[in-house]
Amino acid sequence: MIIMNELKDKVAYITGGSKGIGLGVAKSLLEKGMKVAITSRSLKSAQYAAKTLGADSSRVLALESHVASMESEKKAVQAVLDHFGQLDVTIANAGVGHFAGFEDLTEEQWNDTIDTNLTGVFNTVKASLAALKASKGYVITIASLAGTNFFENGTAYNASKFGLVGFSQALMLDVRKHGIKVTTIMPGSVATAFGDHQVTEKDAWKIQPEDIGEMVVGLLEMNPRTLPSKIEVRPAVPGKS
Ligand SMILES: NC(=O)c1ccc[n+]([C@@H]2O[C@H](COP(=O)([O-])OP(=O)(O)OC[C@H]3O[C@@H](n4cnc5c(N)ncnc54)[C@H](OP(=O)(O)O)[C@@H]3O)[C@@H](O)[C@H]2O)c1
Repeated sequence: MIIMNELKDKVAYITGGSKGIGLGVAKSLLEKGMKVAITSRSLKSAQYAAKTLGADSSRVLALESHVASMESEKKAVQAVLDHFGQLDVTIANAGVGHFAGFEDLTEEQWNDTIDTNLTGVFNTVKASLAALKASKGYVITIASLAGTNFFENGTAYNASKFGLVGFSQALMLDVRKHGIKVTTIMPGSVATAFGDHQVTEKDAWKIQPEDIGEMVVGLLEMNPRTLPSKIEVRPAVPGKS
């Protein structure tokens, strides 16, 4: 099992790093001396986000990839290996939220949710696996409390996140024998623009993206013999916005 407590120069591949949680995690890992590759469905958005991180191309790589496409994910992971020469951590974070009552939920919304939040994670991990076996690396999936608590208007999102929690736990059992750790993080409300939400100062009570970043650093620095495989995280004091 890799000793991750020296994070300097380790390489992370983060899907959906153009904003929100993915960007917050990228920032935290860079602060620890890691190198990061971030993706978006738009190269421009990934490049813009990379600029905000304030590090040069020897430490940050911006990539366009659509997680729903295996071909796209394989190309992105290859680009990480070509650029940095190794891959130590894959963070399957990219996700979408379509929330509607079942009668109004469209087939397109259902497919986009499952293709991104569930099949997308399969594609990302599948594309990363050989490199992570070589580095004895780490997979972190960003699920949700919606992967254990169901709610109205949540058929697509709940199905994708319940599925993702099951996938992540079974994956953990399959790959730990190769020295690869898997953790699924299940956040409650995080202050991001997820689902077209406008972040304002009223969101201060929520988990902030950098809090998830801190949590990821803590996981990577944990003793190699110990694996928190599933983490629920929620705002300490519930609010409304
Ligand atoms: N915010 C919350 O309260 C909350 C709570 C629990 C779990 N989560 C989960 O956290 C993850 C990140 O969400 P967030 O809150 O940070 O939302 P966000 O700010 O909307 O960010 C979503 C990210 O995913 C990317 N993305 C979406 N579809 C993609 C695709 N098909 N291929 C590649 N990238 C794609 C977006 O990139 P582009 O738009 O630039 O393509 C963006 O970088 C999601 O999986 C979400 O379900 C969020």
